[in-house]
Amino acid sequence: MKKPVVAANWKMYKTIEESVNFVEKLKKKPLDWDEVHIILCAPYTSLFEMGNSLRGGSFVSLGAQNLYWEQEGAFTGEISVGMLKACGVEWVIVGHSERRTRFGESDEDVCRKADSALQNGLSVIFCVGESLEERENGKTSRVLQRQVTALLSQLNEQLLRMVVIAYEPIWAIGTGLHATSDQIEESHRLIRGIIEEEFVGISGEVSILYGGSVNSGNCRELSEVSEVNGFLIGGASLDADQFAEIVTTITEVKKE
Ligand code: PGA
Repeated sequence: MKKPVVAANWKMYKTIEESVNFVEKLKKKPLDWDEVHIILCAPYTSLFEMGNSLRGGSFVSLGAQNLYWEQEGAFTGEISVGMLKACGVEWVIVGHSERRTRFGESDEDVCRKADSALQNGLSVIFCVGESLEERENGKTSRVLQRQVTALLSQLNEQLLRMVVIAYEPIWAIGTGLHATSDQIEESHRLIRGIIEEEFVGISGEVSILYGGSVNSGNCRELSEVSEVNGFLIGGASLDADQFAEIVTTITEVKKE
């Protein structure tokens, strides 16, 4: 059985001090550390100090929320894999819908980012998901097929093992309205099927997370969806108590 993965996406929240305080608070929680994989995806400015306070303990992985695909150069405002790794970062979110929609990242851009991360040793949380309009027009499966296939086309088996997929319907992000268990089950099965077509026999090893308004009130119901291997959490991950509660719940449910 795969360990559940619980990833926090702090977006543009938390100063250095707030980030380190969160880590220190989380460390003291009585979590079942061996049975869950926690990834904290923080703002760039917090990464170095968080890397310091996490050093020595393997209980939490550090993640970034974005990167640029070049190693270095005249790319004002961008950040490279090497810079992230130097802070102790092991994971990076790629293709979040906020990057795709607000910052105009295309399928090609996000795939270049994923490729650069993976080829240089960073694991990737790759986000996919449909908009409300796409869902209402019956295009969900087409969108997921396009986004997942774009990624898979540049992976081999070894790189695939460094990828976690996060299914995040755009209409569920930050709205308080999570997708239903049936909708999640259906999309996760579809994604796993697409992976299986390209990589026969190993799709079961890929963790597929659900993201979109996960909180301590709904996490039990969502954890019980068999196809859910973990969560990518925005708003509810900002509070260490609530985040720990969600981690505890999914760890318990997946052990049953
Ligand atoms: P949310 O965000 O949990 O606040 O809906 C999820 C995400 O954007 O990854």
